[in-house]
Amino acid sequence: KTRVLTGITTTGTPHLGNYVGAIKPAIEASQDPSVQSFYFLADYHALIKCQDPKRVQESRLEIAATWLALGLDTDNAIFYRQSDLMEVQELSWMLSCVCAKGLMNRAHAYKAAVADNEEAGNQDADKGVTMGLFGYPVLMAADILMFNANKVPVGRDQIQHIEMARDMAGRFNHLYKGQYFTLPEAVVSEKGEVLKGLDGRKMSKSYDNTIPLFSTEKKLQKLVRKIKTNSLEPGEPKDPDTCTLFQIYSAFASDSETAAMREQYAAGIGWGDAKNQVFEYLNAHLAEPRERYTALMEDPAYIESVLQKGALRAREEAAVTMDRLRSAVGLGRFV
Ligand code: TYM
Repeated sequence: KTRVLTGITTTGTPHLGNYVGAIKPAIEASQDPSVQSFYFLADYHALIKCQDPKRVQESRLEIAATWLALGLDTDNAIFYRQSDLMEVQELSWMLSCVCAKGLMNRAHAYKAAVADNEEAGNQDADKGVTMGLFGYPVLMAADILMFNANKVPVGRDQIQHIEMARDMAGRFNHLYKGQYFTLPEAVVSEKGEVLKGLDGRKMSKSYDNTIPLFSTEKKLQKLVRKIKTNSLEPGEPKDPDTCTLFQIYSAFASDSETAAMREQYAAGIGWGDAKNQVFEYLNAHLAEPRERYTALMEDPAYIESVLQKGALRAREEAAVTMDRLRSAVGLGRFV
């Protein structure tokens, strides 16, 4: 079976970008009977960015409820919390020991932190950089390689990390002379450009410019109205290809609906009108899962039981893999 795996860092409320980039393609993939899927809450990763335990805890519940509300079949997919799989830490260490430091120097998140320090004129280019942030791609490689995932559905911003995981897998196979790991591939959805947020930058928890997937109807309307547009008047033709509002609409709508909206842009639709249409469309599509989400959020015991079941299945498999890897590196039992 093809193995599909992806995770979401539990530092915030899931937003339209997470849905389009990862959750939607992942749930679609899991419906294919020739696929075994592994989806998880990347809560060890959360500690890199967030030292607010309440926030991490709440985000874990929100992200779990989101997957379930959108119809993930957890009898089929293995759905778990990263922190329920301590084996991931051990594999992360093994990979750290074969991963060149220079590779990590090139990781986007680390480079961005260094660039920020340089821009701010800080003497220490590594100011504020923890070992967690620096080694983040190693932990992510451990997530992926633990289950020998073939495909990893992600947004474009994560492609580099998957390439690094391939690099570490290849290096380990080479050093320990065996096919221990499959080289994973990133799967970026066709609509996979990075979805933009309210201000036109990448929609991201870190920029505080997101539209939460399950905002209330009122909030959703308010946020759609806040999406940045230009100052063209109704009647003036507008360019859909540089427009965040259009990009968000087309990420959800079918090809024919998108083409129809394109025509309205050419015909000079007013921004107020366009925003109303996009809101109505999103709201109609999200209303049903939103109801399920709200109910699930009231039932943490149920969510816990689903994750416990997933943890058992994940650990069963991870234990076998780790036995093999321990032997490979010389940490196996004597007899
Ligand atoms: P995270 O939590 O930042 O994002 C989760 C997923 O959502 C995608 N995404 C987007 N896609 C399109 N447009 C956007 N604006 C947008 N914002 C986020 C991300 O690309 C990602 O697919 N390191 C990962 C979590 C992780 C992981 C893994 C993923 C940990 N281990 C193993 C895959 C495999 C992260 O922080 O994603």
